[in-house]
Amino acid sequence: MTDFIATTDDGHQVDVAATDTLLDALEMGGVNWPSSCRNGSCRTCIGQLIEGKVRYEIEWPGLTAEEKADGYVLPCVAHACSNVKLKSGY
Ligand code: FES
Repeated sequence: MTDFIATTDDGHQVDVAATDTLLDALEMGGVNWPSSCRNGSCRTCIGQLIEGKVRYEIEWPGLTAEEKADGYVLPCVAHACSNVKLKSGY
C-alpha cells in the first residue's frame, strides 16, 4: 500500500508505505541507497530531509539533536509521515 511518495535528490520517486522503513521503500523502488547495519547505529544510510517529516520506532537513532534539527535522517529506522524529499549523504 502506498501512503506517501519519497523523492531522492537524483530524481527517483518511490512509493512509501507508512509501515515500511524509508530504506526498504527506497530499495523496493530500485534506488541504490547505501546501508549496512539497518538498525540505526552505523550511519551508513544517513541522508537529509529537504521536505517532509519522518518518525522513528527506536528512541535514539544515531543522530545528535543538532543533526535532527538540521534534517538529517537515518532511513533504515525512519518511517515517512508525509511525502518526503531526501538527499543522500552527510
Ligand atoms: S544502515 Fe546503519 S544506521 Fe542505517
